[in-house]
Amino acid sequence: MSAFMVANWKENPETEAEALGLFRKLAKIPRNRNTEIVICPPFVYLEKIAEEFKNLESRARLALGGQDIFWEKTGAFTGEIGPTMLRSLGAAYAIIGHSERRKFLRETDEMVNKKVVASLEAGLKVILCVGEPLAIRRQGFTAAKKFVRRQLAEDLRRTSHIKFQTSSSLVIAYEPIWAIGTGKNCPPFDAARMAAFIKLQARHLKPPVRVLYGGSVNSKNIADYLKNKEIGGALVGGASLNAAEFGRIIKAAGSR
Ligand code: PGA
Repeated sequence: MSAFMVANWKENPETEAEALGLFRKLAKIPRNRNTEIVICPPFVYLEKIAEEFKNLESRARLALGGQDIFWEKTGAFTGEIGPTMLRSLGAAYAIIGHSERRKFLRETDEMVNKKVVASLEAGLKVILCVGEPLAIRRQGFTAAKKFVRRQLAEDLRRTSHIKFQTSSSLVIAYEPIWAIGTGKNCPPFDAARMAAFIKLQARHLKPPVRVLYGGSVNSKNIADYLKNKEIGGALVGGASLNAAEFGRIIKAAGSR
């Protein structure tokens, strides 16, 4: 199975010139048949990056995504961006439910669910993020599973009627919150167990969803995650801002 690798730039870099420079470098990273890459820059850089993307010699197995989306296509929703708008900019994916949005913007599972449904209905592919906080994880793996099961049940409500075109129409990223940006990555065995559990919870969706791991992924640990067949790729934050490091991650992913 190929590895599905997402570069989540978050609120980086600070200028458009840097963003274009970073995109050019990431787009040059060799992608073999085993790797697909989705680059998710801040919205404001997407249009320029999409122009660069269109002019690339090869766009095979490379796509663009937004880091969020709103559930209404248009309307009186100050500051928001709808799924059709995002698609018209050249993005094929949207990250939804990232823990930083849940934490800093108080996004609830109900909001996440509306975003998931609206995006899928508008033909935008979804990268849905779930994962437990440290306080839950300290209670043990069963508590973590229970937390993730509830998130999935709420976030995936009203999706059974949607016909997914490909196995990447809805991708789920398991991102334990305590592992994001902390350097404390989740033991690969646990990540694989959780990925299998997530697949079980989402078994009503066809074709079967892919599950990614996210949280302090780097070139040294990526192979340990991807050797588990349950893990179909990774969501990479900090390390995707360093083209050389992301290149090493992609190289390791391509040789699994
Ligand atoms: P990180 O972020 O790789 O910097 O830990 C992952 C994410 O939040 O998607």
